[in-house]
Amino acid sequence: MDRRTALVTGASSGLGAEFARQLANRGLDLILVARRSERLSELADRLAHDAGVRANVFAADLSAPEAPALIFDFVRELRLRVDFLVNNAGSAFVHCARALLTLNFTK
Ligand SMILES: NC(=O)c1ccc[n+]([C@@H]2O[C@H](COP(=O)([O-])OP(=O)(O)OC[C@H]3O[C@@H](n4cnc5c(N)ncnc54)[C@H](OP(=O)(O)O)[C@@H]3O)[C@@H](O)[C@H]2O)c1
Repeated sequence: MDRRTALVTGASSGLGAEFARQLANRGLDLILVARRSERLSELADRLAHDAGVRANVFAADLSAPEAPALIFDFVRELRLRVDFLVNNAGSAFVHCARALLTLNFTK
């Protein structure tokens, strides 16, 4: 069976970390994005251990216009496919959501 992957932004704390946990418990692999890489790595290790999923982390500041393209390159390098996007980080990042969705659907 194909593994499915969810990309969660703002995964280093709060609701984003909880989304990641819930998705891992449903068997989805994860790409965790936020600025604090240590917190992302701790969560990724925990989810890999507890739920047996693959969890990759990418530290990015989503207020930077180039962030979606950097994330896209990271995903492509790992040869992953994003099946679900949980764009939870900050309601101010509407431009980022649009850019991520565009990348997801058009490239
Ligand atoms: N909690 C609520 O009751 C509530 C209610 C309504 C809506 N919301 C919305 O739900 C979302 C999450 O809320 P929360 O309470 O879980 O917030 P939170 O605990 O402050 O978490 C925010 C997450 O977003 C990341 N983040 C913030 N700025 C970022 C940036 N520039 N680039 C990348 N990542 C960034 C943070 O990680 P880093 O600091 O590591 O980057 C963190 O992982 C927000 O969009 C909020 O507006 C929450």
